[in-house]
Amino acid sequence: MPVVHYLLQDGSTRTIDAPAGRSVMEVAILNNVRGIDAECGGCCSCATCHVYVDEAFADRLAPPDEMESELLDGVASERRAGSRLSCQIVLDATLDGLTVQVPASQI
Ligand code: FES
Repeated sequence: MPVVHYLLQDGSTRTIDAPAGRSVMEVAILNNVRGIDAECGGCCSCATCHVYVDEAFADRLAPPDEMESELLDGVASERRAGSRLSCQIVLDATLDGLTVQVPASQI
């Protein structure tokens, strides 16, 4: 199972063994990770699952599609190079150790 590290705004880290095939958002919700609300349930329409992906993993992810990119343009926190919607990142073995930071506006 891939491990995901969630860096939270209080300075703590949640490290979770995640089942492959789940999204980073789903794993956060199932484990009560603070700051990832996922109001649309993963339909790519709310952007409340915004995270900053560690740059070490940037080249392991497919780039955001047009819909995700448009939503990222309107996120509450600053859009950065590593900005992604966590509902669009499906975990597999290649993402073991993935580190994502929850933005400051999502606490
Ligand atoms: S959960 Fe709504 S856009 Fe990701």
